[in-house]
Amino acid sequence: MAQINKNYLKLPGSYLFSTIGKKVREYGEANPDAEIIRLGIGDVTQPIAPAIIEALHSAVDEMGSADTFKGYAPDLGYEFLRDVISEKDFKARGCNISSDEIFISDGAKCDCGNIQEIFGLDNKVAVCDPVYPVYVDSNVMSGRTGEYDATLERFKDVIYMPCLEENGFMPEIPTEVPDLIYLCFPNNPTGAVMKKADLQKWVDYANENDSIILYDAAYEAYISEEDVPHSIFECEGARNCAIEFRSFSKTAGFTGLRLGYTVIPKDLTTGGDELWPLWARRHGTKYNGAPYIVQKAGAAVYSEQGRKQIEEQIAYYMGNAKIILEGLKEAGYSVSGGVNAPYIWLKTPDNMTSWDFFDFLLEKANVVGTPGSGFGPHGEHFFRLTAFGNRENTIKAVERIKLL
Ligand code: MLT
Repeated sequence: MAQINKNYLKLPGSYLFSTIGKKVREYGEANPDAEIIRLGIGDVTQPIAPAIIEALHSAVDEMGSADTFKGYAPDLGYEFLRDVISEKDFKARGCNISSDEIFISDGAKCDCGNIQEIFGLDNKVAVCDPVYPVYVDSNVMSGRTGEYDATLERFKDVIYMPCLEENGFMPEIPTEVPDLIYLCFPNNPTGAVMKKADLQKWVDYANENDSIILYDAAYEAYISEEDVPHSIFECEGARNCAIEFRSFSKTAGFTGLRLGYTVIPKDLTTGGDELWPLWARRHGTKYNGAPYIVQKAGAAVYSEQGRKQIEEQIAYYMGNAKIILEGLKEAGYSVSGGVNAPYIWLKTPDNMTSWDFFDFLLEKANVVGTPGSGFGPHGEHFFRLTAFGNRENTIKAVERIKLL
């Protein structure tokens, strides 16, 4: 008899954004006249930049001609893309990351979820609380955690690092030493950033304790302040303890196109074993690569025109962030984030639970956000709004919230 992977049964409910999607759909069906503004899931709204569209078109044409047609992509991704990433995302920032340490994929979510496969089941995982649910859920699915404790709203055998208002939503180094440490900066969901000196402390800690840091830098393009590292490899010693994930989704609007990459230094080892060959083996076995046309589009992100156009797009979203931040402050909300990240993290009014505030906002303002408790128990009484809406809707949403 076939048996299921019982670890899946430990997961309570559905994936956070699926639950929200369902609730909003039901509300929309019951209230067909409601003009719902979606600032929940971090999905972009602006069209792909013209320089990228041009690259897509020309790559599509190449696929239609026998002498330029491409079949399977190389295992790690096309060199033209890995080379430009290595130059522009890393070497230009003083990080010594070579093209063959970059694995092209169809997005950071899959890589963040899959990376745990190359680690043993006995590894102890540490995550921030609140946290992007993929890190925890993927470890639950593979059996690296205990059961879910509904009272604590936590899985057993996971080290949770509370990110509280009083510490600027920064995790503190845990007392129990983790084997795998997930960090995401600029942070989803709080929008907080870690200064370089602080990230260096985590790198030093990981090296001293033989831990591996799994660093999600999906939002690095939104950093506006100095002294905030764009890559963990800006820190000394990170090559010996870190893996980094990057995404084109938020950087260049590829949520529908799908493109990302993972960096694993060739000299990164744990217990004497190299990690690069394991991920290469997994990549080669389970994945056939991002489409050629999408990798061509990715390379166009680094062209002069592409760069300029996506900078304008990021500035547009960050303009939205400012409108939300300032509008909510005026309305008396306690808010943070939104300066180096496209997420605004607010405290719910009158100590409302995050889900009560979700319902309140949906019903009274027809605005969708994300309940903080969906990211972990320390997200309770907080709420996330994204800056990825269009300008008109963002202004309208803020106006509606101010009237509540
Ligand atoms: C989010 O809203 O947290 C993100 O869009 C989720 C993701 O990137 O997968």
